[in-house]
This record gives sequence, C-alpha cells and structure tokens, in this order.
Amino acid sequence: MSDKVLSQFKQEEKAEEIKADRKVKVGIIGTGGISFSHIENYMKMPDVEIVAAADIIPTKAESIMKNCHGLTNCRCYESHEEMIDSEPDLDVVSICTYNTQHAGPAIYALDHGINVVLEKPFTVTLEEAIEVMKAEKRSGKVLSIGFQPRYDYSVQYVRDIVQSGVLGKIYYIQTGGGRRRGIPGGTFIEKETGGIGALGDIGCYALDLVLNAIDYPKPLTVTGYVSDFFGKSPKYSGEEDAARFSVDDFGAAFIRLEGGIILDFRIAWAMHPDTPGDTIIMGTEGALRIPSCDCWNGTIEPGLKLYHDVCGKMVETPLPYIPKGEPTLFYRKLRGVIDRAVYGKEDAMIVPSSQIIYNQAIIDGIVKSSKLGREVEIVIPEV
Ligand SMILES: NC(=O)c1ccc[n+]([C@@H]2O[C@H](COP(=O)([O-])OP(=O)(O)OC[C@H]3O[C@@H](n4cnc5c(N)ncnc54)[C@H](O)[C@@H]3O)[C@@H](O)[C@H]2O)c1
Repeated sequence: MSDKVLSQFKQEEKAEEIKADRKVKVGIIGTGGISFSHIENYMKMPDVEIVAAADIIPTKAESIMKNCHGLTNCRCYESHEEMIDSEPDLDVVSICTYNTQHAGPAIYALDHGINVVLEKPFTVTLEEAIEVMKAEKRSGKVLSIGFQPRYDYSVQYVRDIVQSGVLGKIYYIQTGGGRRRGIPGGTFIEKETGGIGALGDIGCYALDLVLNAIDYPKPLTVTGYVSDFFGKSPKYSGEEDAARFSVDDFGAAFIRLEGGIILDFRIAWAMHPDTPGDTIIMGTEGALRIPSCDCWNGTIEPGLKLYHDVCGKMVETPLPYIPKGEPTLFYRKLRGVIDRAVYGKEDAMIVPSSQIIYNQAIIDGIVKSSKLGREVEIVIPEV
C-alpha cells in the first residue's frame, strides 16, 4: 500500500481518538503581539485546548497565558525545544515568533511529528524555507503558512475572476501597496529579529494576492531594489528606532514569471505619496483593477473594477465587494490546519509551502539583486 493511503488511515485513527477521549492539543511558540489572534481564535473552538506555550523571554509565556488569557492550566516554557520535548501529545503548534525565528522552531516541530501553522513571511531567506520544506517532507505532517487573506471571500473572488478566463491570457501584473507612515517598530525593524522589513511584513501579502490568482507560476529572474530612507531617519522614526533600524522600509522589483508574465512590484512601510499604485492584472481580453489600500494585512477593500470590450465598445464593470463575515479570517486559517491535519479533511484549506516557496524566492531575489545592483536568476533547489 502506498504511503499516501497508509497516512490516511493514521489520520482516521487519530480523529477517532480525539472524538472519543480528548481535545485537539495546541501549543503556542512565541507569545508576542500576533499570538493573541491565534490564542483568542483557538479559544473559540470547542474541540481544541491550548495546553502549552513557550517564549524565550523568561516568564513572558506564563504571564501572557495566565494573566491575559486566563489559561491557568497552560504549561509554559522558555524555549520551543523544551516545550516540544516535554509535550509529546501536541497535535499542532502555532509559530508566532519574529521572522528570523521561523525556520528553527518549524523544523524542530515537524521533526517531532507535530503539524505547524507558521506565521508569514515563510522565512527570511530562500535557503531557510527549503530546509523547512525538507523537514515537512521528512515528517509527512501538515505545514500551513499564515496568509489569512486567502480566507477572505473578496480575495477568493479575485482568484475566481482570473481563473474564469474573462481576462484572457495574463501578461502583466502590477502589485504592491503601503503606507505613507507605518513602520511597525518593535522586533520588526532589526536584522537580528525581523531579518527583512516591509518586503516580508506586507510585501509577501501583495505577492500572494496576485500569484495565487494565477496559480503561482515559477519566478525566473528578478531585478530588485530596497531602501531604508525613512526607517533610518530620526526625523521620521525618532532617534531610538532610527538607530536600531537595519531592514528595508521600501522595496521594488521587476520579476519575470514562467509563462511570459511580467510582475511589477512595490511595497512601502513609509513614503511620501499615499500609494505606490493600485494592483492591476492585465490580460488579452480584459483587466482587473484592485484599489490600493493601507495594506496593513493584505485583505482588499471595495472598488474592484473589470475593464473589457463589449461589442466593440470599451466598458468598465464595477464588481461587488464580498464582506469578510464571521468567523474571523484567523479562525478560518487555524481551523483549516486542524481540519486537514487532525481530522484528515482533504478539502480543508491550508496555504501550502509548495506555493509560498515562490513568494519567498521572489523576496530573497529582491534582497540579493538589490545588494548586487543587477538582475539575478531565481534558482530554487529541489526538495
Ligand atoms: N498574520 C498576521 O496578520 C500577522 C500580523 C502581525 C505579525 N505577524 C507575524 O507574526 C510574527 C510575530 O510577530 P509579533 O508582532 O507577534 O512579534 P513579537 O516580537 O511581538 O513576538 C514574537 C515573540 O516570539 C518570541 N520568540 C522569538 N524566538 C522564539 C523562540 N525560538 N521560541 C519561543 N519564543 C520565541 C519573542 O520573545 C517574542 O515574544 C512575525 O513573523 C510577523 O510577521 C503576522
């Protein structure tokens, strides 16, 4: 019997065990800002319990889990290794650490047979992402990257429009977005913790919005540029943050994708204009415009418009906005992983590494190209 068939039997056994005598056991790695969205949404799920949490800042996990969430029975640790070694029954971990600490905990969890929800961006470098994918393959466990906009009905509508063929053959896409002033501070602005800046924080969402709509073609080459004029300026960032700032606050790139598609990208944590441009998907039969928004979290706002010809006349068709509704996008992203990984539901939606590796390869290519001052070829090692 093939490994695929055998692993399905294992999922069924586990689902039976969980329905019979216990809840799905979840651990949280990193108890900073975004962990709250994970914890609060897991707490809404009647079949899930958060049994453990870890943070490398001494006493932080304990204090957050007990004082902020009232989870007095949650066992708390000061490293992800200690938590995973001590908790052999964990079904899923949410990795909510800063970017430079995505790969290590993800590999450790997968190698210990635990399913993983990994916050975005995938990692800092392409090389790290490849190592995580190798661990995923070794383990046979589920890994989903935390792109919650994928669960937004309007984002899904954009993909449906492109996939319907109404735009014809897609040949050019511009995407990106940003904020006039919106550098996040904290662990986001240092190389040691954030690793990359606006590129990884919000750029990865802009890339995912369009690349998912066109089935993630392989990126071939990239000419990239990054800068840090606002982050490093005491005038815009204050003395303290300007002194610490060691990542990008703006990035731009021209990327060639397989299938002859050109991707034109820009992203900003800070800039003088209100937008570096709307997202536009151009095809031989029509074009789609997605209005630029503040791009805090990659979801889209009302104002989608289709440009096409009808009986020889140029027409613009406003398209409806579909409200996000309930439950929250975070609930849907966590539920997707639990339903796929623990209950073996093949139709439960996850965000697979096999797609996001191309997102990461583009970000990595932008950083490398910018350093070299020329176009680079994107080479993605086999996993
Ligand atoms: N999906 C979203 O909407 C969204 C929003 C904000 C942030 N994020 C992502 O979430 C991640 C964390 O962001 P944040 O704002 O919570 O950062 P944060 O700095 O507030 O929290 C990170 C926490 O991880 C801890 N940590 C680091 N390495 C660790 C390790 N090996 N083991 C245990 N704990 C460790 C740190 O001590 C810190 O408490 C980032 O990658 C960010 O891009 C996602």
